[in-house]
Amino acid sequence: MAAPGTTWLQPARHQDSGIFVDYLTWLAQTGVRDAPPGAFEFEFLGPDFDWGNRARLAVRTIGGVRRVVGVGIVTERFTTSGLVSRIEYGAADAEAESALIEWGISVARARSARVVDIWRGRGRAGGVEAHGFTVIRPFWRMDLPPQTPAVAGTPVAGYQLFARIQDVISQAEWVRAYNRSFVDHWQHAVLQQSQWDRKTASRRHLAEATLIAFDRRGEAGALVVCSIDHELANRPGERRTGPIGFVDVVGTAPEHRRRGLARWLLGEALVRLRAAGARTISLYVDGASANRAYELYRQSGFSVAFEYEVWERSLA
Ligand SMILES: CC(C)(COP(=O)(O)OP(=O)(O)OC[C@H]1O[C@@H](n2cnc3c(N)ncnc32)[C@H](O)[C@@H]1OP(=O)(O)O)[C@@H](O)C(=O)NCCC(=O)NCCS
Repeated sequence: MAAPGTTWLQPARHQDSGIFVDYLTWLAQTGVRDAPPGAFEFEFLGPDFDWGNRARLAVRTIGGVRRVVGVGIVTERFTTSGLVSRIEYGAADAEAESALIEWGISVARARSARVVDIWRGRGRAGGVEAHGFTVIRPFWRMDLPPQTPAVAGTPVAGYQLFARIQDVISQAEWVRAYNRSFVDHWQHAVLQQSQWDRKTASRRHLAEATLIAFDRRGEAGALVVCSIDHELANRPGERRTGPIGFVDVVGTAPEHRRRGLARWLLGEALVRLRAAGARTISLYVDGASANRAYELYRQSGFSVAFEYEVWERSLA
């Protein structure tokens, strides 16, 4: 048993998910996260999550009472350049923060991760730097507010557009188009068929605004994938007007770039998202994108609504 006043970490359980949601909500309210937990986090933090190995409660005895003073979660992505672990934590003070970060690093090491990342709102880094992390890039959420019109894009000659709702393109073709388009994206993780199937089976997925363009040879040139969330805007800590539409994916295969495909598909998707009831439309973009994807979004009416700094520590 730890001495009173000393923080200790204990494995979390599914029954603790409410405490995690409260902490993640608080992180949104204090500018560390861009949004409170939504359907994605609720599904993710379900009974199948590996709570015992991937989640910790930071606990301390204060005035004879055991109190939770922080929570931590470690997730991971199998990217084409190695395993990337990510620590998400909320801590009431520096002692709890330090304990949770060091635990997260030890989990990442045990998994042989190449690097470990922590995403924090700009200016909300807390004590991350003291644990050997440096900022590697900005990552933004960009929003199209309700009053900004969605403008349909101009079709690109030689290409034909299909929506997923038409059900004429095989699921494997969507996955192939995604993987070809994102091959040079930072931290690209090869999309598996099972992940695509899960994503498109979700009730948030919007098949009528999920689009793909083929050229005359039958090769997929570009795709966009969209979803809509009818509940997130009602959660404490969320400031956007809902329903909130999401452009989850915009990608053009390297040989098809700079022809206006992404602009066309994005414009078409925005019109369809609005037709489906989306008021605010959001997307996430790498602020250091070599292809300046954020310029395309700016030109379509989006502006930066939240700035993350991605902090990284190498474990090599
Ligand atoms: C970003 C991406 C989707 C652009 O696709 P695209 O079909 O080539 O884009 P478009 O031809 O419609 O160009 C739209 C605008 O984006 C910007 N842009 C696209 N590629 C650019 C580049 N290489 N350099 C600078 N600006 C670029 C320009 O502002 C361009 O407008 P312009 O041609 O009138 O100057 C594509 O490069 C891609 O798939 N990259 C990898 C995946 C990715 O980063 N997706 C976005 C994730 S949020």
